[in-house]
Amino acid sequence: AMDSGVAKNLIIDWEAYNLELQERIGIDQRLMLRVVTRAKKDPKRVVFAEADNVKILKASQLLRDERVAIPILLGNKEKIDSLIEEHNLDLTGVTIIDPYMDEEKLKLFGNILYEKRKRKGLTPAECIRLMKDRNYYGAMMVEMGEADALISGLTKDYPKTILPALQVIGVKPEVNRVAGMYIMNTSKGPFFFSDTTVNVNPTADQLVEIVGLTASGVRFFNIEPRVAMLSYSNFGSAKGEVASKTALATAMAKAKYPELVIEGEMQANVAVNEDIQKETYPFSALIGQRANTLIFPDLSSGNIAYKLLSELGNAEAIGPVLLGMNKPVHILQLGSSIRDIINMVAIAVVDAQTKD
Ligand code: ACO
Repeated sequence: AMDSGVAKNLIIDWEAYNLELQERIGIDQRLMLRVVTRAKKDPKRVVFAEADNVKILKASQLLRDERVAIPILLGNKEKIDSLIEEHNLDLTGVTIIDPYMDEEKLKLFGNILYEKRKRKGLTPAECIRLMKDRNYYGAMMVEMGEADALISGLTKDYPKTILPALQVIGVKPEVNRVAGMYIMNTSKGPFFFSDTTVNVNPTADQLVEIVGLTASGVRFFNIEPRVAMLSYSNFGSAKGEVASKTALATAMAKAKYPELVIEGEMQANVAVNEDIQKETYPFSALIGQRANTLIFPDLSSGNIAYKLLSELGNAEAIGPVLLGMNKPVHILQLGSSIRDIINMVAIAVVDAQTKD
């Protein structure tokens, strides 16, 4: 039983959402609408590690009502129930799991973790204890097929949230690492930023892996990546570790992915401005078109760039989309909005669909 005022707040009008973006950012932005439409065709079970949070509960109701996803809530049942009541939500029929309350499951999951981590210094007792951590428990649900995707990170810092997922689910067999991509919806169209969340100081080899991961992430949105390898220098114009690392990574990435348009190393303005490219760098493989996929030389530049642009630049930031995990896991930015959560869930659902 919900009073209509609350229900009204909780209805997502996707057309209105698009209109608002159109007004705010200046273009018709249907990228997320397409993802949501795809998600609704086959909603998947998404486990929320932080269900004792009102934003997660509101997002869950919306996702359930709109049939974007089938939420599973992890947390203390009494706390969740009282939040539901306090905020007049309706989550009837949604599964709530309190990891503390199921000794059998803790043991079962703990033993599986132990099998995975016994050569990494963990004991059986520690593994069972770790399973009370909802980031471990949620990751294990996805690993065991009890959920199709994990969403966490709203209330805890990124490293603490991603480590359990790396330990329980791990990376795809064909890749060595994960990276975090942001979609920046701007008046000039969507731009894909990477790595914005994981690899602190990638080597040239690791940057090449990030290019590969990011290119698949861009194609997930049915967009063909045009990759710029960013630096403070243009094609050898300045010396320094980052410039030479990026130049080397560019050459290696071009050789490894001959089918991709990749250029660098270059400054950010050159990457997104085709006039400068035509005038000054006519040899650029990007010629005639700006890059849409920006690979940053390290985590500081990627993280700072997306945060500044989303706070000051009139862009909508969607992400971080975690690339390279063996099963769909996405770690939210601390303090994400309900809309951010819904965007990430829709992406996770479509990701899970393609893994069927
Ligand atoms: N890709 C895949 N696996 C990785 C990666 C990676 N990039 N980095 C570490 N791992 C794996 C390791 O192989 C290791 O696996 P193992 O235990 O099976 O051997 C496991 O993760 C732990 O490795 P450690 O070396 O102990 O972990 P590390 O101290 O490197 O921590 C972490 C990894 C947490 C990702 C770290 O690199 C980090 O803190 N990155 C920055 C995260 C961050 O703060 N981002 C900015 C904020 S995010 C935001 O703004 C939304």
